[in-house]
Amino acid sequence: MELKKQIQALGEEAKKLISEAIDIEKLNQIRVEFLGKKGKLKNILKTLGKLSPEERKEIGQLANKIKEELEQLLKGRQEELKKKALEEELSKNKIDITLPPHWIEAGASHPVISTLIEISETFISMGFSVAEGPEVEKEEYNFDMLNIPKDHPARDMQDTFFLNNGDVLRTHTSPVQIRTMLKQKPPIAVIAPGRVYRKDADPTHSPMFHQIEGLLVDENVTFRDLKGILKVFLETTFGKDIPIRFRPSYFPFTEPSAEVDIGCTVCGGKGCRVCKGTGWLEILGCGMVDPNVFKAVDIDPDKYTGFAFGLGVERIAMLKYRITDIRLLFTGDLRFNHQFKGIR
Ligand code: PHE
Repeated sequence: MELKKQIQALGEEAKKLISEAIDIEKLNQIRVEFLGKKGKLKNILKTLGKLSPEERKEIGQLANKIKEELEQLLKGRQEELKKKALEEELSKNKIDITLPPHWIEAGASHPVISTLIEISETFISMGFSVAEGPEVEKEEYNFDMLNIPKDHPARDMQDTFFLNNGDVLRTHTSPVQIRTMLKQKPPIAVIAPGRVYRKDADPTHSPMFHQIEGLLVDENVTFRDLKGILKVFLETTFGKDIPIRFRPSYFPFTEPSAEVDIGCTVCGGKGCRVCKGTGWLEILGCGMVDPNVFKAVDIDPDKYTGFAFGLGVERIAMLKYRITDIRLLFTGDLRFNHQFKGIR
């Protein structure tokens, strides 16, 4: 039967073209050419009308069979070509997954700076504002106007870094008291955080360290005000239950003067190596502003009183985070620093 052969030949031709097709576009062309509405198979089937019903049935079944076969083949070949295209694409854009990533470590503030900011915020929340002064300071502001006499041992070459022009690297933040009172008249409530320098280097002393100075001047300021403010600060920093004691002391620029101790944060007051068996840790110096200091900055000591305090930031950070060697804070070792990520 002529028609049967024609359809089979058509099938063979299409199969060959499908297997040779090199891209999806070519496959689509073949589909249209053979199986489309105006395709070759449809054209042949148009002549079916001339046949007997039996023949028509037979040819119809054959045509359907071939149509299904071709559709299967087209589908299969299409998958193959897609896969091949993807593989080609991947081999063109090779990514070396063994390369190390561009790792950007998130930064964090240093534990000393975190502590400094935290303490500052406590005082700011009580109404203090922040004052600043230079680290290279006039000897006059660092010593003389603070009522520190010319022959005071602190001025010794052994303790103070002197510059060739006679200036000093400030040995404490107290000169900011002088600078503030020269500029501003009472009421005054400032803190002065910053770097200070002393010729000292051992496990608990660093030649550069940080202090926070406090100064409050107004009419009728008393020692009770000083105690109240410091109590708030210490309880905020070390917790509500921290034992606090004021111990009489001496500073040339305050009278009376005191040093403040807190219960040892390591042994809880029982006595250990850190508190040298006393159960107490010295935490800051303070006192009522000496009238001689007021006179030096032209503030009337009969009208105004005030208090001042100075605390060491590293010391507080060390007690808070139980760091036993101050030098760890300044080596810049990231393995150390990263332990304090997120304390603020
Ligand atoms: N300046 C003192 C020191 O560095 C601390 C202090 C400041 C004491 C203010 C009393 C008042 O040791």
